[in-house]
Amino acid sequence: MPPSLVIYVTQSFDSDAGRCIRAAADSPYRVVVVCEEPPRAIPDGLRDLISVYEEVDDVFDPGVIVRAIARLQASRASIRVLFSDDERAQVPLARVRAALKLPGLPFDTARNFRDKALMKRVWKTHGIPCADYRLVRTESAAVNAASALGLPLVMKPIDGMRSANTYRIRSLLDVRRYFDGVRAASPRGVLIEQFVDGEELSCEVVLHKGRLVWYSSTNYIPPPLKVVERRGEHFAVVLPRERQGADTTRAAGIAARAVRSLGLRTGMSHVEWFRRADGSVVISEAAARVPSAAISTLAHLADGTHLIDLWVRLLVLGQVDAPPPRRFAAAAVFLRGSGRGRIRAVRGLPGVIEKSGPLIVAADYPAVGTAIERDWDGNGSILFRSPSTRAVVEAVEHARRTIRITGW
Ligand SMILES: Nc1ncnc2c1ncn2[C@@H]1O[C@H](COP(=O)(O)OP(=O)(O)OP(=O)(O)O)[C@@H](O)[C@H]1O
Ligand SMILES: [Mg+2]
Repeated sequence: MPPSLVIYVTQSFDSDAGRCIRAAADSPYRVVVVCEEPPRAIPDGLRDLISVYEEVDDVFDPGVIVRAIARLQASRASIRVLFSDDERAQVPLARVRAALKLPGLPFDTARNFRDKALMKRVWKTHGIPCADYRLVRTESAAVNAASALGLPLVMKPIDGMRSANTYRIRSLLDVRRYFDGVRAASPRGVLIEQFVDGEELSCEVVLHKGRLVWYSSTNYIPPPLKVVERRGEHFAVVLPRERQGADTTRAAGIAARAVRSLGLRTGMSHVEWFRRADGSVVISEAAARVPSAAISTLAHLADGTHLIDLWVRLLVLGQVDAPPPRRFAAAAVFLRGSGRGRIRAVRGLPGVIEKSGPLIVAADYPAVGTAIERDWDGNGSILFRSPSTRAVVEAVEHARRTIRITGW
């Protein structure tokens, strides 16, 4: 019998790559790694898990991947899965699957997940609750769209990440002020959306053959846009112990419909959503991937589930284990500095350690003298865990109120 292969594509050996390779190797199939680094960069613990290693010069070029696979198929191997945890590889790999008739995320689906204008169009036709929007290419079209949709609005790239080049629009003057910058970051068009007021949350959903088989929700405190707007605002992600609040179950059902409408049948999706004051759910966006490391870490702290293992096992073996009971709530607080330049002082940490010390499971405290980071993950973080969701939320709120990081 020709061997069955699982092909994993990555630009480099970051820690998630190691986890993906280990999870893929925990199967009856041979693991092929396609990577831009030379073979000597393979970390020691991974070497024995990799059957074939293909060094290539561009993992995001479908032609390069097709040629790497052609070399493998000379041995008449059959390919079971071709995957990557890098969002930038999704559309190129879907192109390869289409060309070689491989199973996995189809091309149209990959594109729906990577282009927020296509995503919203699909959702509108399927009746998924989401913000009204326009896709525009010129400043005057942006002003017209803003007038038609009504203020306030959000202006953002169609394939943005980490809230980069994303702006709250309060006036038509704001449209003119920010348009060129967003356009430069998003040459295929700029999205203008009605501003959704509410709490912001994530919902990770796992679908197997179209059926929702697993979900988990986290709260963002405050919404990421507010975080990047205000220097010194600490950002927190809270994973409640209670897996199935009435509204998270409802949101998970809507999130599952939303990602199914984009074409996902088997896989994990990181969906972001708003809970408005009246309790209604508005879906914000969806990615066909595991969530950020922060959310994966919280899930692991809460019940031992590692989301990368769960995802790879689903892709490779088509299996999802029932979630174990959750013994803890967990949260991450990302500490951000106000002012510019370098950190001059960090205040309030001793009080947080005194009050919430027993809940702290890991911490990376910001160091005086380092440059202040503007991103939502800031200059350091504290991870909290407790059997009580309320205790975790209180620790988070206390840390957000008390810790002050100032610059020069
Ligand atoms: N229509 C909207 N109404 C209110 N806030 C919004 C809206 N669209 C975006 N935002 C805010 O901007 C942030 C970034 O937008 P979005 O999630 O679309 O982009 P992103 O950069 O892809 O984020 P990610 O890092 O999650 O991939 C959101 O987390 C949210 O706080
Ligand atoms: Mg987002």
